[in-house]
Amino acid sequence: MNVKIFDTQEVQDFLRLASGLEQEGGNPRVKQITHRILSDLFKMIEDLDITSDEYWAGIAYLNQLGSSQEAALLSPGLGLDRFLDMRMDAEDEALGVKNGTPRTIEGPLYVAGAPVEHGFARLDDGSDPDGQLLIMHGVVYDADNQPIPNAQVEVWHANTKGFYSHFDPTGEQVPFNMRRTIITDDQGRYRFQSIVPKGYGCPPEGPTQQLLNQLGRHGNRPAHIHFFITADGHRKLTTQLNMENDPLVYDDFAYATREGLVVPVIEHTDEATIKANGVDAPFSELIFDFKLSKLVDGVDNQLVDRPRLQA
Ligand code: DHB
Ligand code: FE
Repeated sequence: MNVKIFDTQEVQDFLRLASGLEQEGGNPRVKQITHRILSDLFKMIEDLDITSDEYWAGIAYLNQLGSSQEAALLSPGLGLDRFLDMRMDAEDEALGVKNGTPRTIEGPLYVAGAPVEHGFARLDDGSDPDGQLLIMHGVVYDADNQPIPNAQVEVWHANTKGFYSHFDPTGEQVPFNMRRTIITDDQGRYRFQSIVPKGYGCPPEGPTQQLLNQLGRHGNRPAHIHFFITADGHRKLTTQLNMENDPLVYDDFAYATREGLVVPVIEHTDEATIKANGVDAPFSELIFDFKLSKLVDGVDNQLVDRPRLQA
């Protein structure tokens, strides 16, 4: 039987009490957020006539999500990271701020403290036997289309199994494998050699995949490469490039693919080209120029501070 009590004075007073709104101490913002979440939950329980069994299954799920460290994985999977980006885009539009390269989600797998190189970096340690050579290069431009020397290009990506160093369940990768910070040269150029990544998939037995299964959704991403681009006088750009030839390029469970962030993969087998690029085997080439946006009233108004692994 679905009884209705949410709108009674008793329940409304109880929500204020449980959220600390009748107490002096504590943090007003946390009280406000708690009150809203609790109110929405109470209402949902009533509207959907949530059973006790369903409720306790949900609580067990949250415990499992936390103990497997997957909360920041579920978040993009449910589109929340994408929604935060949509809000930042809308704020930019309202302020008349133009973005060169579109932003897209950071994802949960960045690690601070990668080795710093100038102009060029080799990202992989050469140990992945399935690794197909990759060369990527381009220029970092400012909002006026001028190249930016000494810009910082932080890059990270997965290996041929779709695993990231520091988060690899096989334990095979050395620290900072496929993670570097490249400082652009005097013409704003960056270049790196690595191996072609494979798309990431959620841990198949984990709570994120478990929920996605219930939604009839997959938990896979197309092959992609992550970037933070930083330069004086500009806003930090958080973005990813997706490889055009991946069948999932427009079917990303984390909704990070965007117009302007899909790059063609150029295959080279010609001996002269191979030699001219300083490698010894056929390789895939990605070319991409980043364009930053100016600070807004002298500040990066959209800098995201979140807990990140520091190694
Ligand atoms: C997730 C994984 C990624 O590699 C990424 O870029 C974004 C999200 C995830 O597991 O949610
Ligand atoms: Fe990723």
